[in-house]
Amino acid sequence: MVSLHRIGRRLGGVGVAIGLSAVAFAHAQAQRQLVMYCSVDEKWCRAMANTYQKETGVQVDMTRMSAGETYARVRAEKENPHGDIWWGGTGDPHLQAADEGVTEAYQSPMLPKLRDWAQRQAERSHNRTVGIYLGALGFGYNTEDIKKRKMTPPACWADLIKPEYKGEVQMADPNSSGTAWTMLATMVQLMGEDKGFDYLKALHKNINEYTKAGAAPALAAGQGETLVGIAFQHDVIDVAKHNKPVAVVSPCEGTGYEIGSMSLIKGAKHLDEAKQFYDWALSVPAQSIAAPNGSYQIPSNPETPVPPEAPDLSKIKLIEYDFAKYGSSATRKRLLDKWTTEVKNAPK
Ligand code: G6P
Repeated sequence: MVSLHRIGRRLGGVGVAIGLSAVAFAHAQAQRQLVMYCSVDEKWCRAMANTYQKETGVQVDMTRMSAGETYARVRAEKENPHGDIWWGGTGDPHLQAADEGVTEAYQSPMLPKLRDWAQRQAERSHNRTVGIYLGALGFGYNTEDIKKRKMTPPACWADLIKPEYKGEVQMADPNSSGTAWTMLATMVQLMGEDKGFDYLKALHKNINEYTKAGAAPALAAGQGETLVGIAFQHDVIDVAKHNKPVAVVSPCEGTGYEIGSMSLIKGAKHLDEAKQFYDWALSVPAQSIAAPNGSYQIPSNPETPVPPEAPDLSKIKLIEYDFAKYGSSATRKRLLDKWTTEVKNAPK
């Protein structure tokens, strides 16, 4: 193999320049990086990061945080962003970030191919976010414990505020968790703000813990640590596959749903890499990574097979969820403060 040195000697200065730029190029290629904030289940986050890194050679630095946490971090870093792309997590915090101008507008060439609800998420955010999956809210309960206690299995939100459920219900904290925010916003939309907060105050007496992550209560129900866990139905379904029998409930009154989203972070240091990831993440091969990693949401690319484990939306009474309102900065700030003051800090 002829060394760069000998080429350089023969060609003189020009050769040295060519040699050095080849090294610089190789070095730059080797340093292609992407800082990814991820707000779905850790296993899925890891699979997305590892697959992308393996397929492209881009070094992916991935951090998993709940959707509310990630929103707070992107806001805090807005003067000096560390993250390049925020992938996954419920859509409302992504909409709030868009509302506050801390995410970058981008229209992927994949956008026109996506399901209608995913394109509407992009439209309402002026292309600062996009739908990547859809998940229905609900709760799970441990069937063994319910039978042992000779209780009537819960079928409605109203069941969860009954005295027999004191200390038996678990949900996440809406400040950190997009799942729990979706539940708070669902109650307000189902019952109106005053009655919705009356419900949340009554439920508070039955809550044994407000977890940080939204899927944790589902796992707790599967492990017998709580009788009921409020979570997205696909998370309960995944738990039921690996733990004690856990039944999934679509609450009789109706329930909310999420449009899991993805956003480019404004001022990202690796914006081109982030855009390439963004386009890839909307492709069939990328969206097909979810199911084998235990995530059974409805994918936003209609050519991606819907996992057989996914809840059948046609059998779920979904509310007309007002994403524009409950993704707005003003509403989320006001209702989160109200919940923290009037519910979380209320005596049991
Ligand atoms: C789980 C669900 C996702 C959801 C996410 C939100 O990973 O499978 O569908 O978007 O939770 O996480 P968080 O911890 O913010 O509730």
